[in-house]
Amino acid sequence: MTVQLAERAYPVLIGSGALLELPRRLREKAVSSAVVVSDSNVAGEWGEAVLAGLTGVGIRSQLHAVQPGEQAKSLSELSRVLDFLEAFDLDRRGVVVALGGGTVGDLAGFAAAIWLRGVRYVQVPTTLLAMVDASVGGKTGVNSERSKNSIGAVWQPLAVFSDLTTLRTLPEAEYLTAFGEIVKYAVSLDRHLAGTLRHQAPALIERDQTALESVVTRGIELKAQVVAADEREAGPREVLNYGHTVGHALEIASNFAVPHGRAVALGLRAAARLGVECCGCPQSVVEVQDELLAAFGLPGDLPPVRENEVLAALLRDKKAREGRLRWVLPRELGKVQVGVRVPAATVERVVHEVLS
Ligand SMILES: NC(=O)c1ccc[n+]([C@@H]2O[C@H](COP(=O)([O-])OP(=O)(O)OC[C@H]3O[C@@H](n4cnc5c(N)ncnc54)[C@H](O)[C@@H]3O)[C@@H](O)[C@H]2O)c1
Ligand SMILES: [Zn+2]
Repeated sequence: MTVQLAERAYPVLIGSGALLELPRRLREKAVSSAVVVSDSNVAGEWGEAVLAGLTGVGIRSQLHAVQPGEQAKSLSELSRVLDFLEAFDLDRRGVVVALGGGTVGDLAGFAAAIWLRGVRYVQVPTTLLAMVDASVGGKTGVNSERSKNSIGAVWQPLAVFSDLTTLRTLPEAEYLTAFGEIVKYAVSLDRHLAGTLRHQAPALIERDQTALESVVTRGIELKAQVVAADEREAGPREVLNYGHTVGHALEIASNFAVPHGRAVALGLRAAARLGVECCGCPQSVVEVQDELLAAFGLPGDLPPVRENEVLAALLRDKKAREGRLRWVLPRELGKVQVGVRVPAATVERVVHEVLS
């Protein structure tokens, strides 16, 4: 598949064994050296194979592994990655290979964006979330001391290699939470995908490669379409925030104890209910969405969070313009409306309902 952008387009390879294509594709682009940035979990499973493939075609390569988890998206970790690129002498004919989940992709992509004012990089997403979300769109960056993703750049990869085989080693909880985002795509943009998810849930839970291939492909297609229409988040990209208003507030109120996908799942539950109240959305959408989420164990048991803290975090949402929130709410299955205003009392009632 090709992601079409104004200045340039890049390929996304999806399937079992996509990673085997990496060395040859890089050779074709006259790449002479590569730094593979990964985290210690992913490096332990897949690092050797990737390095062996690259050196096998004569690309000078080394691996730099960071600690797993969100802490890796920090300025100090970024600084270590840049030091590694310098010591390795990565020049303009080299590439950075981001091998891992969204954490590694954001960190390594940002390092590539600023090293020598920008070198080429490829994404090799190894989580389902990174495949359908983080690896498409070119947003890269790290967290500041106080806020998530506040330091970053838009920097598009040379190519994305979504190898479904890598998902075999992904822990169950990490795998299932990604369905929060996939259900988001289905309910906001594609009713056909909603049907596929419903029928294929058992196969998807088993990580059946054929079922996964179709769902991952569709997820990437949907995100790519939205991103291509709106590379710098001025308008259409706002649809991707469906479920993220309450979701983000819940993450903050729980001090990020609630994983992103679960928080989004709860946010989707809230947004669909608001859609019924404010956008004439049929009640059946709430039911279909609840059922889809439940099929993947979402939102699941959440740690206790205070309702008033969720509401306070909502008011501080960076997406609020002129102090008032702009909601993304469903009108029907597969269609959302952006920029909806909702009375505060309605928000409070619905947040209370989904949290109880
Ligand atoms: N740039 C974007 O557009 C965008 C979009 C969505 C999310 N993100 C970012 O992505 C990050 C979350 O990414 P994530 O959910 O992929 O989590 P992650 O990268 O933190 O990975 C989750 C865990 O799974 C492990 N892991 C990853 N792949 C594995 C594999 N194949 N086998 C075994 N273990 C594996 C990791 O070591 C880690 O412990 C957040 O920082 C978020 O901000 C970015
Ligand atoms: Zn998200």
